[in-house]
Amino acid sequence: VIDPVSPLILPMSMDDLDAVHAVAVASFTSPWARDVFAEELRREWAVIRVLRADPKEPVCAFVNFWIVRDEVHVLNLATHPVWRRRGYARMLLDDTLSFARTRGVRYVTLEVRRSNAPAIALYRSLGFVAIGVRPSYYADDNEDAIVMLLTIEPGGARTRAWHLAGE
Ligand SMILES: CC(C)(COP(=O)(O)OP(=O)(O)OC[C@H]1O[C@@H](n2cnc3c(N)ncnc32)[C@H](O)[C@@H]1OP(=O)(O)O)[C@@H](O)C(=O)NCCC(=O)NCCS
Repeated sequence: VIDPVSPLILPMSMDDLDAVHAVAVASFTSPWARDVFAEELRREWAVIRVLRADPKEPVCAFVNFWIVRDEVHVLNLATHPVWRRRGYARMLLDDTLSFARTRGVRYVTLEVRRSNAPAIALYRSLGFVAIGVRPSYYADDNEDAIVMLLTIEPGGARTRAWHLAGE
């Protein structure tokens, strides 16, 4: 019998810089430079958490968010292509939502490319709803961003908020 090892989610450290940057390069058309992640680690309001399939593996996925008053804003979420469809991005978002609840956060927001069906499916499955569009938001190719929101009720429940017209 194989003993299943649970994935491990921990705060990113400077030692993880190369690994996190590698996941970003493999995942985004215009990934952040390595230094931007280093800057992010120094920001008091920024959090980056990394997931390893087991403690011996390199970083498989990461999430990066900002805490601004009663809002968590997700800036980056990526799973290295080799490790996709194993539930890792969902685990990182669940972890982010637990964090948000313990901090009394009310709103979790993010922007996602209109064409990014996998990410939109993931966000919807967690209760995020589309609340708006930022036209030509992405400078590299002018793609629109869909703005998504998840409202956390004070009791901890997640509810659906507004719906974008036509959805
Ligand atoms: C989007 C992304 C983070 C998903 O990572 P992942 O670890 O593979 O996601 P999970 O295994 O946790 O999948 C959770 C759910 O997302 C959805 N999903 C993920 N990949 C999908 C795909 N290729 N097609 C359709 N739905 C998909 C599904 O609803 C899935 O649930 P299911 O497996 O039970 O059907 C990953 O594809 C990625 O890094 N993409 C490039 C970067 C990016 O677009 N980031 C998000 C925008 S900031």
